[in-house]
Amino acid sequence: MTGDLLIENLAEVATAEGISPRRGSEQGRVRRTRHSEGIEVLCREGRIAFVGPAAERRASFGDLSDLPRLDGKRGTLIPGFVDPHTHIPWAGTRETELFERLAGKTYQAIAAEGGGILSTVAATRRASEDEITGNVLRHLDWMLAGGTTTIEAKSGYGLNLADEMKQLVALQRAAAEHPVRVLPTLLAAHEVPPEHRADAGGRARYVDLICDEIVPAVAARGLARFCDVFCEAGVFSPEESRRVLEAGIRHGLAPRLHADEFADSGGAELAAELGALSADHLMAVSERGIEALAGSGVTAVLLPGTSFFLKKERYAPARRMIEAGIPVALATDCNPGSSYTESMPMIVTLAVFALGLSVEESLTAATLNAACCLGVGDEVGTIEIGKRADLALLDAPNLLHLAYHYGVNPIAAVVREGRLVYRSGGRIV
Ligand code: NIG
Ligand code: FE
Repeated sequence: MTGDLLIENLAEVATAEGISPRRGSEQGRVRRTRHSEGIEVLCREGRIAFVGPAAERRASFGDLSDLPRLDGKRGTLIPGFVDPHTHIPWAGTRETELFERLAGKTYQAIAAEGGGILSTVAATRRASEDEITGNVLRHLDWMLAGGTTTIEAKSGYGLNLADEMKQLVALQRAAAEHPVRVLPTLLAAHEVPPEHRADAGGRARYVDLICDEIVPAVAARGLARFCDVFCEAGVFSPEESRRVLEAGIRHGLAPRLHADEFADSGGAELAAELGALSADHLMAVSERGIEALAGSGVTAVLLPGTSFFLKKERYAPARRMIEAGIPVALATDCNPGSSYTESMPMIVTLAVFALGLSVEESLTAATLNAACCLGVGDEVGTIEIGKRADLALLDAPNLLHLAYHYGVNPIAAVVREGRLVYRSGGRIV
C-alpha cells in the first residue's frame, strides 16, 4: 500500500545523499535544503517525486489540489530512521537486573548466575507465538513514534529450532500488520542454551545443531535474511562463529555479527575476513580490528545505548573508525538486558555527546549507512527522487535541534511509502 502526499511548509529538508555508505569526511556530508518561502516534498505512488521550493513545485506539477497534504509547520524533514540492530521478539522484562547493576554488579556477573540472556530465553520459550507477536507490535509502535521506518530484528532468545522459529514467525506476523518494515535475522548463536551445558561436548553439539538444522530450516522457510553470532570471550569463539556464519552464507543468509562488545575477541577481523555486512558493538575493538575493517567494506554498527545503559566508561572508538575510513551506522540494540530503548533520537543524542559524532555524521549513520548495511540503501535512507518516501518530520526549525533539544521526542509525524502513518498526539484540553 503506497500513497500520494504533498508535504508543505517545511523549514528544512536534511538528508545524506546516494545509495552507498558514506565514510571518512563524507560521513558528515548532509544536504540541508532551506528556502524563505518554505520547502515542499511531493510523494507519488510511495516514492519521492520532488524536493524544493513551493513555487518550483507549482511550476512543474500544477496546484495538485486533489492530493492529501501534510502541513510541515516549519519543521524539518529527515529520512525515516533505519535501526539496523534490534532484538525485539522477546518475552519478560529484566528491570530487577537494572537495580542489581546500579548496586554495582556487572552484566557478565548477572549472566554467570543464570540471569541475563538466559532468563529472557526461559521467558521467551514459555511465551506463546501470539504473546510474542503482541510484544513485537508494542516495540514497533514505540519505534514508529521515534521516527523509525525500517529495522533489523533478531531471534536469539529461543536457542532451539522450535523457539527460534517461533520468534521469527512472530516477527513476520507483526510486520505484516505494522507500518515499520522489518528485516529479520537468525541469531541462534546468541548463547549456549542450558540443555547443552551439562557436558563438555554440549556446546559443540549446539553449534552443529545450528549449522545442520536451524540455519537450513529457517532459510528454507524464508524467515530470515541475515545470520548473526555473538562472537565474544565466554560466548562463541571466532572459530565457532565462522562455522555458523559460513553455514548461513551457504543457505543465502548474509553474515553480520556482534563483535568485540566487552573484550577484543577477534570479531572485527572475522567480519572483515567473511565480508560481513556489519560488525556491531565494537566497544572493545583493537587497533588491529580497526585496520582489518578499514577498506573491507564492512559497516561498523555502533550501539552507544548499550554503553550508556550498562554504565560503561568505554564507548566504541567512533572517531578513530571514521578517521580510518570505516562507514559508521547507529542502532538502538533494543533488548531487555543491555539497552532497553526503541528511540533513535536518543541514540543520536548519545552519538553526539558520547561518541563525538557531529549531528550530520549521526544522521548519515542513522539513515543511509544503516540502510546500506541492511542491503536496502538503494531504496531508503535518503530523501531523493525515486527513493521510497519513508520520512520523519521533526518539530524543530533545523537539523541541529535533533541533538540540541535532548530528552524529548522530536517526532511530529512519520510517513511510510507516501502514507501518513503516525502523528504525535497533542494537548487534548
Ligand atoms: O547486543 N550482546 C548480546 N546480546 C545483546 C544483549 C541481550 C540481552 O542482554 O538480553 C546485546 O547487547
Ligand atoms: Fe545486540
